[in-house]
Amino acid sequence: MTRSNLDNYYHKAKKEGYAARSIYKLEEIDRRYHILKSGMKVVDLGCHPGSWMQYVSRKVGPKGLVVGVDIQPLAVAQSANTRFIQTDLFNLKADDFRKYAESFDLILSDAAPRTTGVHHADVDKSVAMAEKAFDLARELLKPGGGLVTKVFFGAGTDDLIKKVKIAFKLGKAHKPSASKSKSKEIYLLGMGLK
Ligand SMILES: C[S@@+](CC[C@H](N)C(=O)[O-])C[C@H]1O[C@@H](n2cnc3c(N)ncnc32)[C@H](O)[C@@H]1O
Repeated sequence: MTRSNLDNYYHKAKKEGYAARSIYKLEEIDRRYHILKSGMKVVDLGCHPGSWMQYVSRKVGPKGLVVGVDIQPLAVAQSANTRFIQTDLFNLKADDFRKYAESFDLILSDAAPRTTGVHHADVDKSVAMAEKAFDLARELLKPGGGLVTKVFFGAGTDDLIKKVKIAFKLGKAHKPSASKSKSKEIYLLGMGLK
């Protein structure tokens, strides 16, 4: 992805009223794997500034629900079918979500640590976040539910991919074209929790 393509995504997001160009990574995954449907209950970890929530809330509609989590507050207004928990995701327990719904259809995580430039430290933190998303998914998802989590590729990613493939009927790693080409981020998809 060249700088000018990234700028294009930035301007497209502004024009379409999205809080961030991250939206186009989720949109691409959704177009390809059809992860979002009307009426779904969804968790969105690392949801600030709020573009994934904007997209998901529209896709799941008034009978659906999106519960977002971030350390930072949301930067854009959200629809009535959303809830927001401001906290560090490592403090979260499955019970923190049960007041919103007994179980969920999809767990999303676009959470990313603030990068330090020390590659292995950044990867370790990102893998820990993706593992947290995986653990919450196993506790909160209905059978057949799905997981999409960002992770920085490196030591520990392969083990996580193996775990996703064991827990779900289908496990995949996806690099959206809206990701910067030199970025080490990928998205792990688990579909159909066993
Ligand atoms: C790439 S941004 C997410 C963008 C979002 N998907 C959107 O479309 O607007 C990553 C987010 O992860 C959040 N984050 C990082 N560490 C976190 C933590 N320990 N707990 C909760 N959120 C965290 C950051 O605050 C940041 O907002």
